[in-house]
Amino acid sequence: MAEKKYDQSLRIRTVGLREWPQGMVCYNRYEATPYKALDRLFQVYRLNKSDKVVDFGCGRGRVSFYIHNRFQVPVTGIEVHDKTYEEALGNKASYRQMARHIQAPIRLKYGLAEHYEVKVTDNTFYFFNPFSAQIFEQVVDNILQSVEGDPRTVDLILYYPIAAYKRVLQNTPFQLINKVTVPGAAQQKEKFLIYRWADK
Ligand SMILES: C[S@@+](CC[C@H](N)C(=O)[O-])C[C@H]1O[C@@H](n2cnc3c(N)ncnc32)[C@H](O)[C@@H]1O
Repeated sequence: MAEKKYDQSLRIRTVGLREWPQGMVCYNRYEATPYKALDRLFQVYRLNKSDKVVDFGCGRGRVSFYIHNRFQVPVTGIEVHDKTYEEALGNKASYRQMARHIQAPIRLKYGLAEHYEVKVTDNTFYFFNPFSAQIFEQVVDNILQSVEGDPRTVDLILYYPIAAYKRVLQNTPFQLINKVTVPGAAQQKEKFLIYRWADK
């Protein structure tokens, strides 16, 4: 299904790009994960009813609404661009009209991913290159502090993984457990890497 058609089926608008003003070098532009990539990921990687997902840099919310609709699990999206965040809220209002029957919450939070307080129930963390590797390291550190306090198995899902993110994870106890490629992808980076910290 084409991107706009898929958006329409979820009653949302997420197609397009938005750059940050020049000088905001730590924060990356808005661009949604392609639906065909999400379809492929979730053929291979399943979420359970007990999972709770955080989308760091959720943009207009495509991944959050897609996961909520498909798996009916709680999702939190965090976004710091004020206009993009407003658009995500608009999407939530129209999506929720259609998805009233799904009880799991969708929470959209305005703010910096690196300031998000990881909840003890959060266990699946999604990143489509939202920010610099330095900020990614802070966010991963927050996740590790949370699992040290409340041990549980947690997964990180990276779409379009860049070398700098992989280097950050090499210095952590996260283990690469799966690689999911997207059929027909034009570029080698159009894939997902899934890392896990497993509670013994
Ligand atoms: C590449 S988009 C990914 C959108 C969405 N996760 C998806 O895959 O469809 C990255 C988003 O992260 C946001 N962002 C960048 N730095 C951020 C930060 N420090 N905290 C929260 N959001 C941030 C950007 O404004 C942008 O909307």
